[in-house]
Amino acid sequence: MLDSAETIKDLQLMRDEGHLSDALLRAAVRSIEKSDSRFDWVGVYLLNDEPELWLHNYVGEPTEHAKIPVGTGICGRAIEERTNLNIPDVSADEGYLACSPDVQSELVVLIRAGDDIYGQIDIDSEEKGAFTEDDEVALIGIADKLAEQLAAERREGS
Ligand code: SME
Repeated sequence: MLDSAETIKDLQLMRDEGHLSDALLRAAVRSIEKSDSRFDWVGVYLLNDEPELWLHNYVGEPTEHAKIPVGTGICGRAIEERTNLNIPDVSADEGYLACSPDVQSELVVLIRAGDDIYGQIDIDSEEKGAFTEDDEVALIGIADKLAEQLAAERREGS
């Protein structure tokens, strides 16, 4: 089970030490991936002005979906609908973009601060219905910490 409190504390420590979002996003992905064997692929996509999602970093099998237009796939739909998406059975989802034939379920949690959406944490599992509400709540806490740093950098123009 993901110990989000520990991850959030580590991310804040990194911020206190002056690390930038690039380091925090990589640390968060690694921490989430190793926290639970249900999490087979973990990545972060960042939203740009196109608007398009670009894969920032991930742990798991290589994916061909390095860039995803808003509105495309489960990832792009989450941005378009401005909502987290917990998809228990990806085979039943018409818009799903497959990364690997083994993936059964997917959870997307937005990285957002107020109205601003910076991107998303995307997790695939090889188990059907792998993701719980507790997972989503834990990931929202981590995503909020990442958004704090991204918002601070945007304000500073770095
Ligand atoms: N399945 C996603 C694409 C990204 S991969 O899971 C890494 C989607 O449908 O948008």
